[in-house]
Amino acid sequence: MRKKIGILAVLLGFFILVTFPLWHSVGMRHSLEPPNLVLPANQKNCVMPVAYMRSSHMFLLLNWRELVVRHDQHTFRSFDGKSYNMSLTGTCLGCHNKQQFCDRCHTYMGVQTPNCFNCHVDPMALRGGMR
Ligand code: HEC
Ligand code: HEC
Ligand code: HEC
Repeated sequence: MRKKIGILAVLLGFFILVTFPLWHSVGMRHSLEPPNLVLPANQKNCVMPVAYMRSSHMFLLLNWRELVVRHDQHTFRSFDGKSYNMSLTGTCLGCHNKQQFCDRCHTYMGVQTPNCFNCHVDPMALRGGMR
């Protein structure tokens, strides 16, 4: 009898251990919710299709920097025919709120905060608050 209870206890322990990821994520449900990304109210499109932006905005930004700084080109022609000035502060942050958009996703994804804003201006921070 003693031995059976011992075996049952071990089995139970094993079961709890193996299923840990399942009930752990149920208990921690709130932490699995996606970040609340605030989008610009009166704009429908980004400078590129959203799937491209989601996966590749960092390459687009580096490309913009290269074109502006090394080749003195400033105009980006978008997929929907619109033209944009290739500027991190002036264009990206003209539509997006750094704290409520860029930072929220980077924090959620565990991405190290890009160092861009050591030099580039966040207009919202300058104004000293949220819009
Ligand atoms: C004209 C306004 C505008 C500009 C300028 C703009 N965006 Fe966007 N961006 C949007 C809108 C609107 C969406 C959402 C589009 C959608 O959901 O179809 C978006 C989506 C995104 C997304 C994807 C968000 C998600 O849900 O996954 C990223 C990342 C992004 N933008 C980054 C940038 C960066 C970086 C720049 C500058 C290179 C930039 N945006 C410039 C309006 C803009
Ligand atoms: C939907 C999620 C999401 C949003 C919104 C988003 N990013 Fe990112 N960003 C990422 C991810 C994920 C990475 C890291 C990719 C990697 O490491 O390969 C990244 C990386 C970057 C990098 C490269 C960092 C480096 O040091 O190499 C820059 C620059 C950047 N993001 C700028 C922005 C800006 C500016 C905005 C707001 C206009 C923004 N991101 C909005 C998800 C996002
Ligand atoms: C050490 C300071 C510094 C850092 C850090 C920095 N930049 Fe810049 N960046 C500059 C300077 C200076 C220019 C040239 C400004 C000009 O010619 O008007 C520039 C220009 C640019 C431009 C084109 C012009 C504009 O107004 O945006 C882009 C795009 C850009 N940088 C993106 C980035 C991104 C993305 C990061 C982060 C991954 C970054 N930079 C980090 C200093 C910096």
